[in-house]
Amino acid sequence: MDLLFALVELAAWLMLVKAYKYSIGRTVDEVMNNCMDGQNQKSKPGPESELFQHCSPWAKRSCCTSDTAQGVGFDRAWLNFDWNHCGALSPKCTQHFVKDLCFYECSPNVGPYLQPDVRKVRNNRYQNVPLCQATCSSWWEDCKMDTTCTDNWTQNFNWSTGQNKCPTDATCDTFKKVFKNATHFCENIWDHGFRVVPDTQDCFRLWFSDDENPNEAVARKEAARMLGVSGSSVKVVASCYVFVVMALFVFIALG
Ligand SMILES: *[C@@H]1O[C@H](CO)[C@@H](O)[C@H](O)[C@H]1NC(C)=O
Ligand SMILES: *[C@@H]1O[C@H](CO)[C@@H](O)[C@H](O)[C@H]1NC(C)=O
Ligand SMILES: *[C@@H]1O[C@H](CO)[C@@H](O)[C@H](O)[C@H]1NC(C)=O
Repeated sequence: MDLLFALVELAAWLMLVKAYKYSIGRTVDEVMNNCMDGQNQKSKPGPESELFQHCSPWAKRSCCTSDTAQGVGFDRAWLNFDWNHCGALSPKCTQHFVKDLCFYECSPNVGPYLQPDVRKVRNNRYQNVPLCQATCSSWWEDCKMDTTCTDNWTQNFNWSTGQNKCPTDATCDTFKKVFKNATHFCENIWDHGFRVVPDTQDCFRLWFSDDENPNEAVARKEAARMLGVSGSSVKVVASCYVFVVMALFVFIALG
């Protein structure tokens, strides 16, 4: 009888562990320890000790390799994407797009924001990453007099040649005409990759010079919110366990 009970108990445990894994799912650390599943990203973030030229803030913990960090800076058609589709962007505007591209390739903090997206260059993408208003505004201020032909760079280009070309019915105009304002610019250009939030709220920066990545804490909070944990899921599992074991006692006692 004791042996039978022990076996049943073991089975109950295994079922619970399995149920925990599938229902409540991943832990905060698992969500945090994720890179976008793209053409260049590593599978897990980690340090890059090699020369990390253009994307230096991420050297400590990065989703991109140092080769990528170098390519982002030197290869103007990285991912075959041409920023200069309506004539060259100004150097100060280009700087922001380099930072944005570093963020895209290297940020180790997008785990909580990943959504499926089936494309040549990736299998998922980040969406609605909360971008600080100040970061968005300075990007906008430095680009608003530059030129483009569409407000939706993720979706609206014609890729039939293998590189992004303006759609046939589109004309080149200033960012100011095409995007109207900073928020619309930051949220629409990458099809809701970012969502602009006031600087007083938890928000991401595209770039940082601090030793610590300020986006880490924001993402961790979001992962915890998403999973609905603050230690509570452990309690849920523990109480489920107690319940199942008690039910088994009753079952065995009756049988
Ligand atoms: C895309 O570009 C190709 C080649 O320039 C052109 O033939 C085609 O009509 C374009 N498609 C759209 C939807 O603009
Ligand atoms: C920004 O532009 C968009 C699109 O034109 C508009 O819907 C939105 O109200 C504008 N926001 C502000 C703050 O002006
Ligand atoms: C971008 O274009 C796609 C396809 O036309 C559309 O579904 C999406 O809503 C657009 N995104 C924005 C931010 O307007």
